Amino acid sequence: MTGLSDPFNRPINYLRISVTDRCNLRCIYCMPAEGIDLLPHGEILTYEEIATIVRLAAELGINKLRLTGGEPLVRAKLTELVAMLADIDAIDDISLTTNGVLLKEYASELKQAGLKRVNVSLDSLNQDKFERITRHRKLSDVLQGIEAAKACGLNPVKINMVVMRGINDDEILGFAKFTITEGWHVRFIELMPFVTDNPPEGHSIGRKANSHPQFMSANEIKERLNSLGELKPCLPITGNGPAKYFRFPQASGTIGFITPVSQHFCFSCNRLRLTAEGKLRPCLLSDQEIDLRQPLRSGASPEKLKQVITEAIQTKPKEHQLAQGHTSKKRLMSQVGG
Ligand code: 5AD
Ligand code: SF4
Repeated sequence: MTGLSDPFNRPINYLRISVTDRCNLRCIYCMPAEGIDLLPHGEILTYEEIATIVRLAAELGINKLRLTGGEPLVRAKLTELVAMLADIDAIDDISLTTNGVLLKEYASELKQAGLKRVNVSLDSLNQDKFERITRHRKLSDVLQGIEAAKACGLNPVKINMVVMRGINDDEILGFAKFTITEGWHVRFIELMPFVTDNPPEGHSIGRKANSHPQFMSANEIKERLNSLGELKPCLPITGNGPAKYFRFPQASGTIGFITPVSQHFCFSCNRLRLTAEGKLRPCLLSDQEIDLRQPLRSGASPEKLKQVITEAIQTKPKEHQLAQGHTSKKRLMSQVGG
């Protein structure tokens, strides 16, 4: 194993794989209500193709995987993919980011297939607000999914909440309290403006991300938590990511902050992304992509494919320009996988 690193000496050992661009929700910051033009099935990598890519990437030093979407659990037989990936020796961590709607149904078989843990996106604990944000009335499915994941040992279950001023910021305290009463691991995520995020009146994408009227910085979110006690920094519970973790003295759960806008974490970025149609994307927020499907389907040798992966990493940008108003023009979050 050689170990990959990019031109800025960042070791790259983490691959995020989007297994589908489809989703069973329509979150306002991610998708338009009518959905998006979906990829034809033939353009989506098969599980065999994904496993081939992961085997090669693992030879190059990738040892951690996350499956994302769209919503990964809407793709048929995801458990089979998990089992195939868990079989690859060098892979020692497989996790899943899901909206939780189908988690109750699949948690146990995913665990058995080799999935280690899950992150569940959940932006409101109020039925009506959940529906306003996701355009579906599925809160109770998600809550049951979280419990099912915990019960079968997909731990730690982390809850991702995208904080939006005027929409769910009144629930920050409620989510934080759950780290005390329920042992939840909650991560507050700063809103990133994507191309079609329902820009509120008077705001257009391209303006600075922090001037979006719904944007709330992690610092402001943290201030809202003062009334619950003193937050003490703590070490991350398992993770590969950019969150900074804290804990209330009496809590068994943690609070994380993910700050793509107010404080970028590009200097420690260890990740590469694979889109559902087989494009390597070195940065979530840059439209630079390298096609792996064409060489794969036309019979390129393993060495050639590894060369494409290595070259993709060489194009990883130093940092994103979200704070300056630059974001992905080509894709929505559901098409990259978060
Ligand atoms: N800004 C911040 N977070 C987002 N996510 C999706 N779209 C956005 C956005 N525009 C989150 C989801 C999920 C993770 C993959 O990314 O809620 O938790
Ligand atoms: Fe689906 Fe996730 Fe996008 Fe919501 S944020 S619409 S759950 S892909």
